[in-house]
Amino acid sequence: MFCKTTSTTDNAAKWFQSDFRFHQLYPADMRRLASQHWTPLQVVKQATDYLADRAGVRILDIGSGIGKFCLSGAWLQPGATFYGVEQRDNLIGYAQAAQHALGLQNVHFYHGNFTQLNLSDYHHFYCFNPFYENLKNTDKIDDTIAFSAELYHYYNRFLHRQLEYMPVGTRVVTFHSLGNEIPASYQLADVWMDDMLKFWMKYK
Ligand SMILES: C[S@@+](CC[C@H](N)C(=O)[O-])C[C@H]1O[C@@H](n2cnc3c(N)ncnc32)[C@H](O)[C@@H]1O
Repeated sequence: MFCKTTSTTDNAAKWFQSDFRFHQLYPADMRRLASQHWTPLQVVKQATDYLADRAGVRILDIGSGIGKFCLSGAWLQPGATFYGVEQRDNLIGYAQAAQHALGLQNVHFYHGNFTQLNLSDYHHFYCFNPFYENLKNTDKIDDTIAFSAELYHYYNRFLHRQLEYMPVGTRVVTFHSLGNEIPASYQLADVWMDDMLKFWMKYK
């Protein structure tokens, strides 16, 4: 059972009772990808408790998929605004359809590559190993985009450089990450789930 700490009467609550229930917002082919590619609700709770550190905070999910992190974060943290950028157009469509069904206002989805965004427009970041698909012998969401080891390294380096420019106090949560994208100016504030879930903060 997954629930908010504050009482809620909103209609959306029933969808957040379990991962299984939440996935019913999506078609079967998207549900089948869930165990490998979409963040579990319990992880969203832990990550957003850390990232939503003040009212008005802007949180970007880098590679937002079908919008699970942003939508459940927006429901759990009504004082924060969640942004998702996703390179696959059809996944943005599923995210927006789910947003409409849930009636959440504090979430926005952009179709595009995260390299097109100015990361300084956001305060904190969530990253569920988005570039991993570029490596050989990994589970792919589909074959609609090009994959390569060069892209994997390029994206990691790009994100690393952008995170370096962010101000002290910037928070990042990584899930299933090797940590290549995190500069040395960030320190680990906490670790959960046998090192799979990491909470970072820029300290210098
Ligand atoms: C593992 S899924 C995570 C989805 C979502 N963040 C969640 O936690 O449920 C990673 C997503 O990142 C997207 N992605 C990978 N590289 C990207 C890039 N360069 N720009 C935008 N999206 C990207 C993929 O298409 C995929 O949907």
